[in-house]
Amino acid sequence: MSRALDIIKNEDFTSDNLVYLLSAEGDERKQIYEKAAEIKDRYVGNKVYFRGLIEFSNICAKNCFYCGIRRDNGTMERYYVNRQEVIQAAEYAWKEGYGSIVIQSGERTDKWFVDQITELLQQIEKATNKELGITLSMGEQSEETFSRWKEAGADRYLLRIEASSKELYHKIHPNDKLHSYDKRLNALKLLQKLDYQTGTGVMVGLPFQTLEHLANDLLFFKNLDIDMAGMGPYIEHEQTPLYQYKDQLMPKKMRFELSLRMVALLRIMMKDVNIAATTAMQTLDDMGREKALKVGANVIMPNLTPVKYREGYLLYEDKPCIDEEAEECKSCLEARIHLAGGEIAYNEQGNPKHYYKRTGKTDK
Ligand code: 5AD
Ligand code: SF4
Ligand code: FES
Repeated sequence: MSRALDIIKNEDFTSDNLVYLLSAEGDERKQIYEKAAEIKDRYVGNKVYFRGLIEFSNICAKNCFYCGIRRDNGTMERYYVNRQEVIQAAEYAWKEGYGSIVIQSGERTDKWFVDQITELLQQIEKATNKELGITLSMGEQSEETFSRWKEAGADRYLLRIEASSKELYHKIHPNDKLHSYDKRLNALKLLQKLDYQTGTGVMVGLPFQTLEHLANDLLFFKNLDIDMAGMGPYIEHEQTPLYQYKDQLMPKKMRFELSLRMVALLRIMMKDVNIAATTAMQTLDDMGREKALKVGANVIMPNLTPVKYREGYLLYEDKPCIDEEAEECKSCLEARIHLAGGEIAYNEQGNPKHYYKRTGKTDK
């Protein structure tokens, strides 16, 4: 038996062994992907869940060094989608049987914003008969805010740790109170305490990042016992501080391949979590999302943001689906998922099985 298969069979996921798996090539690389596909089939099947993505606002109080909509980037217009348009997008998702939506936004904690989201959640719940799974992705908030939003109808929350190593985290964020690693980690724990289905993730191929960092990211997910993950390649953006390191980055093809490996290894390690085939993977490889589905991912996020706002939400370069209306992305994805051997689970929320195991609750 190869060393890769041996590690997987014995579930001997030490940091060193994960580094080995992350760098395996040839036959061993193929074996990892086959194992991931096998485990996916056994634990979550070939169903692919849609989460309609609404990019609510690009107004952000933070200044992350990698992100195109950081506060100090003055080169784009700031927007927020008006309430009627968000509700329409949610209704569209509901009528088309998407099962879930994700509302994502730059991070703000002011009272106006918190109230807006609370009211929005209540109205979406009303307009869709409480049948949609609602995920929020709006950064770090207080326990009170998280719990208000949960009360108002949110079921899940995505908060990427971005880099689970504190030292790397501080290299890709400004060194101030607003960008505290401990606060971010604490926010993740609060979400779990409040019974959210909790998702996190990292970027792959960041400047200063090593395979050891990535191996430890996988162990971090496992130790925290997360329910969902979204991982994708880091893609440089000209209007950001990290752009100066663009010549030190791994080639894009390698960043993509390593992201794929992270998806496969997480599926092998955590078996019944939900894993997204992310848009950033599609950016670096035209078949990126399909490839991710084949090796472990089971969630896709078709974009439902009204097209007129999309130019404003460019977190990184060459983001796809900038001009495609919701309907076009839907038929495009149907064809692509079909080709990848997946089956779209219409009219199902697709809550992560792991959440029920972790909390002892039963699926609705
Ligand atoms: N490349 C890839 N992903 C990025 N994100 C932000 N900027 C970039 C970038 N340049 C990701 C972060 C964030 C999510 C919304 O988008 O991981 O959590
Ligand atoms: Fe704001 Fe999120 Fe971008 Fe950071 S990654 S600048 S918090 S939108
Ligand atoms: Fe948007 Fe293919 S998913 S065009």
